[in-house]
Amino acid sequence: MKTRIIAVLLLAVMAVTPVFASEDGPIGIITAMSNELSLLLENTDVKETETIGNVEYYEGLLQGKEVVLVKAGIGKILAAAGAATLINEFDVSSIIFTGIAGGVGDETKVLDIVVSTDLVVHDYGDITNAGFVWDPVSGSDEYGRIYADPGLIELAYTSAVGVVGEENAFKGNIATGDQFVASSSYVTQLQNKFDSLACEMEGAAVALVADQYEVPFVVIRCMSDKADGGAHESISNFGDIAADNSASIVLDMLNRM
Ligand code: ADE
Repeated sequence: MKTRIIAVLLLAVMAVTPVFASEDGPIGIITAMSNELSLLLENTDVKETETIGNVEYYEGLLQGKEVVLVKAGIGKILAAAGAATLINEFDVSSIIFTGIAGGVGDETKVLDIVVSTDLVVHDYGDITNAGFVWDPVSGSDEYGRIYADPGLIELAYTSAVGVVGEENAFKGNIATGDQFVASSSYVTQLQNKFDSLACEMEGAAVALVADQYEVPFVVIRCMSDKADGGAHESISNFGDIAADNSASIVLDMLNRM
């Protein structure tokens, strides 16, 4: 009888305990800038905030899932530090990067979504008097590519199609470098060298760290500009909307998990 009462009590406790996405750890969600984090943070029931290396990590529940949110900062260095901290300090089970990017593919228009299939570090290589030669050693395979998790890619793409429509949702390569690209001739190079659909400044850094630790990841980007001569004006007009669009995809993904 006593055992039965304990069992019933245990079941009752389990019924009111939130269902987490994974028993292995929370989902790490990383952004570079505040506008990329704000919609997610507004919707999170934050349980604890920890500051590590001057960066705030928010632990809590988002759409009923256990998450750790971080605005790691702009560029590959801070992105890599943020990803390593999510893995080492918070034991995240997966990592989702969300934010804005420059559209590189002819088909990727402002406010379209690109879900990473794979990423490259486009600015890694040798500089000589003859110019720049890209080095694929910056990636995780012989082609210099770092591959996102197939399950997360499909989930992100399904959410993207649901939120922005099939005509505005793409899957493909994202090129990362420590440069804001505002040059149509460099866009042509990214198309020709890597067949990239988008360019940004953090994704491949998060990808490489996640890959090294064997943590599944995906990068989701909404286009704020076309990485051409009009990129600075476009980002100031569309940056906040694009940041929210990308975050909305993450909310939808969490709902589906
Ligand atoms: N993020 C948003 N737009 C970008 C661009 N054109 N280049 C690099 N990062 C970006």
